[in-house]
Amino acid sequence: MPTYVSPAKVNLFLRILHRRQDGYHALASLMQTIGLCDLLTIEPFSHDRLTCSDASLPMDHSNLVVKALTLFRKKTGRTTPFSIHLDKKIPQQAGLGGGSSNAATTLWALNELCGSPATEIELKIWSAELGSDVPFFFSKGIAYCTGRGEIIQELAPMNEGPIRIIKPQCSLSTPLVYRNLHVDQLECRDPEQALASFQRGEPLYFNDLEAPAFLLIPELKKLKSELQVAGFSTVLMSGSGSSFFCLGEGTLPSQPVQCFDTQFVHRASTWF
Ligand code: C5P
Repeated sequence: MPTYVSPAKVNLFLRILHRRQDGYHALASLMQTIGLCDLLTIEPFSHDRLTCSDASLPMDHSNLVVKALTLFRKKTGRTTPFSIHLDKKIPQQAGLGGGSSNAATTLWALNELCGSPATEIELKIWSAELGSDVPFFFSKGIAYCTGRGEIIQELAPMNEGPIRIIKPQCSLSTPLVYRNLHVDQLECRDPEQALASFQRGEPLYFNDLEAPAFLLIPELKKLKSELQVAGFSTVLMSGSGSSFFCLGEGTLPSQPVQCFDTQFVHRASTWF
């Protein structure tokens, strides 16, 4: 059965610039895929069927896999029914882009299984309708993302080696984190300079969404400090949280967390 890979991402830096007229925030972020992946098994079937290894994931029209299927049909006019099984490994509400990645993978797989009625460029453009982070997953692994996150500038691989993901038991909703953000109180870092610094091999890790996330769940700030004291050279919340990525060597915190030891990944041709 055709199985497609759907990788998670981390934001190596995330700068929020201002709130836009449409309610979204203008941002600039360096995003990178990691080896922590969901798997999607997709095949033509007698009727539409969606199953998932994680019973807590809603299977209705709010599910990004269902949204991707609906969008693909709307754009291409194809009506083939599909059986889709989602094997979930990426934690939800963790800032790791799991749902967005699943949406990108679903679009790509449906297109392949239907004989490629759309180009990959078309899929990438359409995917922005599903969420700001979705187009990033059509990149080869690292991209500088601007606009509301959907404008992608692909970059040459610049990260290698291991990365540890720590997901605490609490989760965070992206809209709630953005609602608690005070843009006027953010440090005015220049994202272009941050990008240039990464490209020179002098990485600058920061995330403007840490402040509102720590305001909402103060234990997250404590967890970050604990991880820093535990020896990791870099500890940063990914996206709107609640997970952290850690670089270097360190020990696990005392509180119960999920831990994923993985690595930065890039693709040569296709993930999926
Ligand atoms: O684009 P997406 O559906 O993933 O965004 C989820 C929510 O996150 C939006 O409804 C919005 O509240 C917030 N968001 C934002 N600015 C962005 C991306 C997301 O305010 N650039």
